[in-house]
Amino acid sequence: PEQEAEYRERIKALLQKHNAVLVAHYYTDPMIQALAEETGGCVADSLEMARFGKEHPAQTLIVAGVKFMGETAKILTPEKRVLMPTLEATCSLDLGCPADQFSEFCDQHPDRTVVVYANTSAAVKARADWVVTSSIAKDVVDYLDQKGEKILWAPDKHLGDYVQRETGADVLLWDGACIVHEEFKARGLEDLKALYPEAAVLVHPESPEPVVALADVVGSTSQLIKAAQELPNQEFIVATDQGIFYKMQQLCPDKTFHVAPTAGSGATCRSCANCPWMAMNVLENLASVFEQDDNEIHVDPELARKAMIPLQRMLDFRK
Ligand code: 13P
Ligand code: SF4
Repeated sequence: PEQEAEYRERIKALLQKHNAVLVAHYYTDPMIQALAEETGGCVADSLEMARFGKEHPAQTLIVAGVKFMGETAKILTPEKRVLMPTLEATCSLDLGCPADQFSEFCDQHPDRTVVVYANTSAAVKARADWVVTSSIAKDVVDYLDQKGEKILWAPDKHLGDYVQRETGADVLLWDGACIVHEEFKARGLEDLKALYPEAAVLVHPESPEPVVALADVVGSTSQLIKAAQELPNQEFIVATDQGIFYKMQQLCPDKTFHVAPTAGSGATCRSCANCPWMAMNVLENLASVFEQDDNEIHVDPELARKAMIPLQRMLDFRK
C-alpha cells in the first residue's frame, strides 16, 4: 500500500508536469480508474475514450487500455503524443484479424460495405468503410441495412452475429472472438440465475449467443453501467470483464453485483472474466510512462489518413 501511494503521487505529479491526461477503460485496474477520475481524465467505454481524447486540450494522452485504443487516439489526433503504460497490451480480436488476410477477404466481397469493430489495428481500419464500437454497432448496421447495403463484418463473430439477429441485415462474418467474453457459459448462468432469481442479467455483446439470449440488457460497458443505475433491481449478474464492477459499485453502492460464470469456474468465480491484456496496465508501468522509450504510439501517416475516415464517420454518426 505504501508503494501504491507513492506511485499514485508520482503519476499525479507527472500528469501535471507534462500537461497530460489519463484516459482509462472500465476494464483496467480500479486504482487506475480512480486515478483517471481524480486527475480530471476519464474512465469510459471505447467510443467515449476516443471522443474524450480528441476533445481534451492536453497535448499528451496517456491511454490505459489496450493497443487499439491508443492507436485510435493517435489516428484521431495525430498532433498529440499518445503514450501507453505498455504496448504489449493487445486484444484477441485485433490479433485474430491480420490486415493482409482481411484485405483479401474484402477483395473477395467487393459488393459489401466493410464495417469493422474498433478492436482492430490501424491497417484493418484503413480498409473499412465504417468503424463501430459495441455501443453503436447495432444502430450503424441498421442504418446501412435500411439503405439496402450488405455488410462485411469483422472481427468479432459474436458481436456480428448479435447485430445480425437484431437488425436482420445481410452480414458476412469474419471468424474472430474475444477470449474473455467467449468463456461465459449459458449453463452456469442459468444456475446462477436460479440462485439469484431477482437479479437482472447484464451482458456484453461479445458474449456467445446462448449467453446473450439470457440477458435482460445487452450493451457496451457504458450501457451496462447505465442499466445497473436505472433498473430497479437490487442484484445483478454481469457477463463482462470484472473491471467494470469498480464503476458499478461506485455508482450503485447499495446494489450487489455477481460476475457471470465462465468455463471451469464455480458459480461465484472471482478470478476469471479478467482480460489479461487490460491487466497489463498497472500502477508501476503507469508511473514510468514518461521514462520508457518504447511505449509511444506511432501510426504510419498514410494508414492513419485512411483510417481516420471511417473513424470520423463513427464519431459523426452519434454526436
Ligand atoms: P466497450 O467499452 O466499447 O463496450 O468495449 C469493450 C471492449 O472490448 C474493450 O476491450
Ligand atoms: Fe480484447 Fe476481449 Fe480484452 Fe476487450 S476484453 S481487450 S475484446 S480480449
